[in-house]
Amino acid sequence: MKTKYAIVFICFVALVIIEKEINIISRVSDRLIKRQSPHQTPQTPQDESNITQKHLLTVLKVLPSKRPASQGNRTNFSEEQDEELDDSDMYSYSGGRKHVLLMASTRTGSSFVGEFFNQHGENMFYLFEPLWHVERMLATAANNATGLGWIYRDVLQALFLCDFSPLEKFISPPPNNHVTPALFRRESSLSLCDEPVCSPVNKDVIERYHCKIRRCGPLNLTLATQSCLSKQHHTIKTVRVRQLDTLQSLVQDPRLDVRIIQLVRDPRAILASRMVAFSSQYKTWKAWAQGGQVPENDEEVKRLKGNCDQVRISAEMGLSQPDWLRRRYMLVRYEDIARYPMEKAEEMYKFAGIPFSFQAREWILTNTQTTKEASGIYSTQKNSSQQAEKWRFSIPFTLAQVVQKVCGPTMKLFGYKFVDDERTLINKSISLLEDKSFY
Ligand SMILES: *[C@@H]1O[C@H](CO)[C@@H](O)[C@H](O)[C@H]1NC(C)=O
Ligand SMILES: *[C@@H]1O[C@H](CO)[C@@H](O)[C@H](O)[C@H]1NC(C)=O
Ligand SMILES: *[C@@H]1O[C@H](CO)[C@@H](O)[C@H](O)[C@H]1NC(C)=O
Ligand SMILES: *[C@@H]1O[C@H](CO)[C@@H](O)[C@H](O)[C@H]1NC(C)=O
Ligand SMILES: *[C@@H]1O[C@H](CO)[C@@H](O)[C@H](O)[C@H]1NC(C)=O
Ligand SMILES: *[C@@H]1O[C@H](CO)[C@@H](O)[C@H](O)[C@H]1NC(C)=O
Repeated sequence: MKTKYAIVFICFVALVIIEKEINIISRVSDRLIKRQSPHQTPQTPQDESNITQKHLLTVLKVLPSKRPASQGNRTNFSEEQDEELDDSDMYSYSGGRKHVLLMASTRTGSSFVGEFFNQHGENMFYLFEPLWHVERMLATAANNATGLGWIYRDVLQALFLCDFSPLEKFISPPPNNHVTPALFRRESSLSLCDEPVCSPVNKDVIERYHCKIRRCGPLNLTLATQSCLSKQHHTIKTVRVRQLDTLQSLVQDPRLDVRIIQLVRDPRAILASRMVAFSSQYKTWKAWAQGGQVPENDEEVKRLKGNCDQVRISAEMGLSQPDWLRRRYMLVRYEDIARYPMEKAEEMYKFAGIPFSFQAREWILTNTQTTKEASGIYSTQKNSSQQAEKWRFSIPFTLAQVVQKVCGPTMKLFGYKFVDDERTLINKSISLLEDKSFY
């Protein structure tokens, strides 16, 4: 452990020198310095993550943020001009391309909602969670990737421009000649599994290379770039951007036309779902579920509060519509999508400025048990929203109370109703959702 901290420390000193964004870094490095052991062991090459100082430096050198903050390019757009311009003309340099960032946290239904865009058709280039690679490498190097949002932003910025090279530096093992079998969840991106990115392989090639829809060889990122450049619209889904304000220069990049959709969900539901999905990391919660007091000062409770606060702070910023986000931010509750998937999908497409395709509609019809009524109005069968409410019967009331206590302001902002007793929690005829629109 001591070795690790020593390496971490060296990395961060390097970071500070390289990057001018001292305000972000220093908060992290301060913390790290405090955590240094008094007697430091010399650095050895045996670090389990294989991340050496040199490697991290190489990684950071390629990030696009070397150029000055890109705000300058459009400062001459006065607010009045902005008002008059149609959404689609706001940034003429993107050539009509739209760049949708679906920003969420884990267990909010973001994979499902990401599909609404992935399934759009041949004009969409969709990436599922590319920042997974970045977090994995940085978290091992820094032991805590929080505060490094600018790295995420730079990687996203490059990806929206179809440049995979910054991401490549984070893929382990490193791509060979821009070819990798290791891209996280490649199969979740239709365009990475489609011709011409998918180069078919013989039947005898091992399973792990294949996409769901067809067998593909390892991913050639040069082909991925070409495919990306040929598609009109780009969408990236991620659960790793935690602070909306880190994205300002991305949103203001005149080459892009970025729309951010923040997806949120009832924090009680998120906890219930995480306890099932990330069973081993949620052991403490599971023990509390068995009975006993939940100590409010526990790290786990603090982490929950921290997560809720971050989601709320980002949402408050988005909803306050600062100039740089005006008409570029949309808040969506997962529960509304579960109740009205077709309507919400339509809204999201409209917001993004992308035509709602036949293929996307078909996918939603098939996958949400939505029925098209004679009137032409879509209605969801009860089942879909029932699924979204299952958590009410799996979370013990005491845990729901803890969430209500530490996530109270977040729940209020999003319109999730508090429950005062277990009977209400599990009474299906009582909705825990306020009707609320966020504009
Ligand atoms: C780390 O390095 C060792 C030896 O250099 C190698 O065997 C191992 O596969 C590497 N691990 C990763 C994750 O690259
Ligand atoms: C901004 O645009 C106006 C005309 O629209 C022009 O007069 C002014 O010089 C421009 N300012 C800058 C800094 O380019
Ligand atoms: C990571 O750092 C952030 C602040 O930058 C802090 O709030 C958080 O508690 C840290 N997380 C861990 C697991 O140390
Ligand atoms: C990847 O695709 C590019 C573009 O078609 C091609 O030039 C290159 O040779 C391919 N790389 C490999 C290793 O096949
Ligand atoms: C709801 O849908 C699930 C699958 O999506 C199915 O297994 C279940 O039987 C359905 N329940 C009802 C009441 O229709
Ligand atoms: C559930 O709530 C409804 C509406 O408040 C109430 O009429 C009903 O009695 C409740 N059911 C149970 C089992 O408490």
